[in-house]
Amino acid sequence: MKNPASSLNNKSKFLIFGCGFSGSYFANTIRKLGCSALTSSRSEKKDPESFLFDSESEIVPNKKIFDGVTHILSCIPPDKNGNDPVLRKLKNKLKSLSLEWVGYLSTTGVYGNTEGDWVSESDQPNPFQKRSHKRLNCEKEWIKSGLPVQIFRLPGIYGPGRSTFEAIKNKKIRVICKKNQVFSRIHVADITNAIIYLLQNRNSLKFYQVINIADDEPCSQIEVIQYCYDLLGLTMPKPILFEDVREKLSPIAQSFWMENRRVSNSLLCETLGYKLIYKNYKIGLRNCYSKF
Ligand SMILES: NC(=O)c1ccc[n+]([C@@H]2O[C@H](COP(=O)([O-])OP(=O)(O)OC[C@H]3O[C@@H](n4cnc5c(N)ncnc54)[C@H](OP(=O)(O)O)[C@@H]3O)[C@@H](O)[C@H]2O)c1
Repeated sequence: MKNPASSLNNKSKFLIFGCGFSGSYFANTIRKLGCSALTSSRSEKKDPESFLFDSESEIVPNKKIFDGVTHILSCIPPDKNGNDPVLRKLKNKLKSLSLEWVGYLSTTGVYGNTEGDWVSESDQPNPFQKRSHKRLNCEKEWIKSGLPVQIFRLPGIYGPGRSTFEAIKNKKIRVICKKNQVFSRIHVADITNAIIYLLQNRNSLKFYQVINIADDEPCSQIEVIQYCYDLLGLTMPKPILFEDVREKLSPIAQSFWMENRRVSNSLLCETLGYKLIYKNYKIGLRNCYSKF
């Protein structure tokens, strides 16, 4: 990896592929640190400094976009054939640049189902869902690319504008109870801040190519929903047992309940010393509530 631990400075130029929830948060934050950041989107301009990129069309970014780029962050999921959209279209272009660092947002789905046990980066991925096999293939494609890549495995992402509060407000909430089932989560601000922390830390980057970013307290979905209803001062509807509702759930909703694991952040938070802003869902949801 070429000089992976370089600090950020106002000469750092980021291309952020995918200006969705995490990508836009990252872009806005990195700009406040004096770096420049261009973001991709598939259609209308979501960001004043965006360019068009859609791996399913023939639109490719103008050559000028790549001038002076030092850092890349890809926030785009695998395409429908399981390929990585950025690498499929732009691998040679990226390889021709003098990049200091490439980040790829992946998912903890690659670990599969551990029946509630903890998983860490030293565990072999064991994907269960088809989409997680695709994801693991994309991780491998990035590693094989020879670019100075670092992979961040993320559990369920939430933050202001995308949380249980919106689900309650939009009547999309389903209060389902499944015994011993837990989920891990991460607040969008911690994804950005952890990555920036790693980019600023000269010693932490070069030895770790895969890092989980998760909070300290995996817990059941129902605890989270109950906490939101309490903050709203509303009564939570009576929970439905998973076994009673299973057949009525969409395949994607069913798949959500098929995996049970606790994602360890000890590499990030103990070995590498990152301090979470939102250590657990309660602190994170209070932040979402303050902006709801
Ligand atoms: N959401 C979660 O809970 C979660 C959990 C773990 C991991 N992840 C993964 O982490 C990454 C970031 O998640 P997120 O929730 O912040 O993502 P998001 O809001 O869904 O944004 C995804 C971005 O990818 C772009 N995109 C999708 N397909 C594309 C294609 N074929 N060509 C070009 N652009 C394409 C979208 O473009 P448009 O803006 O034009 O639509 C969007 O900007 C994703 O890879 C996601 O799968 C998400």
